[in-house]
Amino acid sequence: MDAPEFRTIIEPFRIHSVEPLRMTTLEQRRQAVRGVGYNLFQVHAQDVIVDLLTDSGTGAMSRDQWAALQHGDESYAGSPSYYIFRDAVRELFPFEHVIPTHQGRAAERILFSVVGGPGKVIPNNTHFDTTRANVEHTGATAVDLVGPEAHDPASTSAFKGDMDVAALEALLRDRGDDVPLVMMTITNNSGGGQPVSLANLRRVREVCDRYGKPLFLDACRFAENAWFIREKEDGQSGRDVTDIVREMASLADGMTMSAKKDPMGNIGGWLAMDDDDLARRCRDLLVLGEGFPTYGGLAGRDLEAIAQGLREVVHHDYLRYRIRSTAYLGDSLVAAGIPVLTPVGGHAVYIDARAMLPHIPPLEYPGQSLAVALYEAGGVRSCEIGTVMFGRQPDGSERPAALDLVRLAIPRRTYTQSHIDYVIEACLHVAAHSDELTGYRIVDEPPTLRHFTATFEPVG
Ligand code: F0G
Repeated sequence: MDAPEFRTIIEPFRIHSVEPLRMTTLEQRRQAVRGVGYNLFQVHAQDVIVDLLTDSGTGAMSRDQWAALQHGDESYAGSPSYYIFRDAVRELFPFEHVIPTHQGRAAERILFSVVGGPGKVIPNNTHFDTTRANVEHTGATAVDLVGPEAHDPASTSAFKGDMDVAALEALLRDRGDDVPLVMMTITNNSGGGQPVSLANLRRVREVCDRYGKPLFLDACRFAENAWFIREKEDGQSGRDVTDIVREMASLADGMTMSAKKDPMGNIGGWLAMDDDDLARRCRDLLVLGEGFPTYGGLAGRDLEAIAQGLREVVHHDYLRYRIRSTAYLGDSLVAAGIPVLTPVGGHAVYIDARAMLPHIPPLEYPGQSLAVALYEAGGVRSCEIGTVMFGRQPDGSERPAALDLVRLAIPRRTYTQSHIDYVIEACLHVAAHSDELTGYRIVDEPPTLRHFTATFEPVG
């Protein structure tokens, strides 16, 4: 018998411990979301059936991660758990200094407090919202230089996370003195979870070298990015993911990291770099806000769980399943005629709500309307990434965001294919009733980051 070629890519694990889901009715969900002013961040998680709000910290840990927690050593200084964590990070990202933080944004806050400040400019392919907020909090300017294809939701180009290298070069030529470092976000979350190619990273490195600038990775989804490189980049087919990750690391001078994504932690992050002086200044701030440098805001047990997660995330069987199962959701929606940002990203599917609900103008928040409808229809919680999140301007005025998207983020190893089939059915049900959906207006909003707490009411 020949080796069979199976079409079905199964979850490369079986379930060891389960969490019950609370089933709810349409009427219960309508009441729940009305009761919180139609803001899905304010809905109690127990009123959600399939929670696709984020892939951050929501993954299932493995048996070996739970075992690693028991190995955690809670010594204040010099815990062996720190060295296990440091070595696991260095196995992939061999930077001299590895500084744990309680999550990714803490690493960003420390780094930009040191290198940012008024007059400084930080280029990135696309800043994630916490990255941008931490840059701007220091008085510096965050500039997004992702390539033009990223702005075309229908373009199927493989590496839509790539930096516009010519634009980076122009920025460094004009304002080089104001740029302390260059960032690259892999995968590019705010741009649809799209990967960055090795070829692009190499070219960015060349430009950084020419202008004497350090390159830092925002590497939250590095393993998913490496898998896309293996699958789609010329000359990379069949290469070991660990090897690709090490090459990405070798092109950079440091990184910020959220361990709540690819490292499979429920909490955690780190900052890493080669520069001794920069590391010393970052550690000084770490002690002020996070903790001693061998635990940095985490328990020893968390450091152990992250170390084990890092060993697991680079397994090819896991990544094949991970990327294929996200694409399965995206492909099914495309096949049903639902407009989706393509190609499908690594951790999430982004529905183009503006295209799906053309009768709702951007300032009546089509993404919010779609996200609420998905929740009401199936108890599926998603996240608006559009005019609610980005429409408010610093002067208090409002304008449409570039796109009105709804993100369905897939927690790692948490849901099975039947959960995803259920999500697809919920999307199809909403699509069949899309002309009944109405826009929303904001009743009440805070001055910043309004999407977390604003309250809404339906228009009309
Ligand atoms: N960078 C990127 C690219 C991210 O996606 C996130 C978080 C962070 C930094 C910050 O990390 O949450 O550990 O402080 N993204 C989550 C999301 C929140 O839902 O996409 P953190």
